[in-house]
Amino acid sequence: MPFPIKAVRASYPALSDGFAYLDGAAGTQTPQPVIDAISAAYRHGIGNVGGAFPASHRSDAIVAACRAAVADLVGGHPDGVILGPNMTTLTYRLARAIAGPGDEVVLSRLDHDANVRPWTQTGATVRWAEVDPVTGELPVEQYAELIGERTKLVAVTAASNILGTRPDVAAIAELAHRAGALTYVDGVHATPHGPVDMRALGADFYATSAYKWSGPHIGAVVADPALLETLRPDKLAPSADTVPERFETGTAAFADLAGVTAAVDHLAALVPGTGTRRERLLASMSAAEEHELELFGALIAGLEALPRVTVYGKPARRTATAYFNVAGHTPRQVAEHLAGLGVNVWNGHNYAWELTGALGLRDTGGAVRAGLVHYNDRSDVDRLLDGVAHLE
Ligand SMILES: Cc1ncc(COP(=O)(O)O)c(C=O)c1O
Repeated sequence: MPFPIKAVRASYPALSDGFAYLDGAAGTQTPQPVIDAISAAYRHGIGNVGGAFPASHRSDAIVAACRAAVADLVGGHPDGVILGPNMTTLTYRLARAIAGPGDEVVLSRLDHDANVRPWTQTGATVRWAEVDPVTGELPVEQYAELIGERTKLVAVTAASNILGTRPDVAAIAELAHRAGALTYVDGVHATPHGPVDMRALGADFYATSAYKWSGPHIGAVVADPALLETLRPDKLAPSADTVPERFETGTAAFADLAGVTAAVDHLAALVPGTGTRRERLLASMSAAEEHELELFGALIAGLEALPRVTVYGKPARRTATAYFNVAGHTPRQVAEHLAGLGVNVWNGHNYAWELTGALGLRDTGGAVRAGLVHYNDRSDVDRLLDGVAHLE
């Protein structure tokens, strides 16, 4: 069955403004059911959690539903879903609870800085996994050398937010586990682009951000509740000491959490299906991935056919994310030119700090990033290619 792109696009009010939204890797647009769920939460009255009255009970239910939804999305356990403002904040919190001076951590230069600096700043000794700057691959073999008996944790991304590279996380995790180390997998860029099974990946911690997959600005880290029981994060004296609540500081954005659940339900229904929500998510996200990669074939072939364009990386397994430069123009100039034509793309390092350093692009303004998500169509791709081709 063809991907129902017209119906999918129609559910996103923002897409009717005429822009080609190729900036999804920095944050997606929001479908109507998510907007409705957030406003319904406010309309019906919400209170803080744990109170004796119905508005408080509604917030209790919103939090529980959100944990169940995120667990379904990534293949985790609802009691292991830690919710917070964004992935970066949660990763800092967890890093402090997991590692410190005297520990060794293995980091990768493929990663967004949110899965790098929180670990370096714990004071742990860092060992680096390098990227092949030509292919954009993160070779697995190097991990056999990098991981040793002193390794506490291996942090690695499930997909690069600029090159789209999907490293072999399962193989890396196997090496980590054999040495008794934990894995912290950054799924922020990967989650919107296909089905996720954190157990199959070997992720002890899997981080994701709802605003990258049609939800509001909320982050989540998912882990086995039994593993979370072993950690003691910084927390206030009176706040809950249970798991996962002990990892959640302050009052949550309850209405937004209702939006997260609506986003997961929306993703589960991108294509018609039956079964549990988890089963429908797997089918729906597989269909979305197929749709994106088919369009991406045209996008990348079109870019590579343009004489002044350099496309960075050629990973074998990737998301539909392209990173490129146009000779004679800065990335910002290209982005401004495209914006003038109604095409949204990002320019810069996009916080892929180590990777743009390895590619030799960090000090020269990075490159242009054009990424596809499930709501993009062929006209978005054509407008990008046409706009780049007509740069003076
Ligand atoms: C791959 C990746 N990891 C981490 C982050 C940080 O996520 P957050 O904005 O939720 O802190 C981003 C944000 O762009 C990202 O693309």
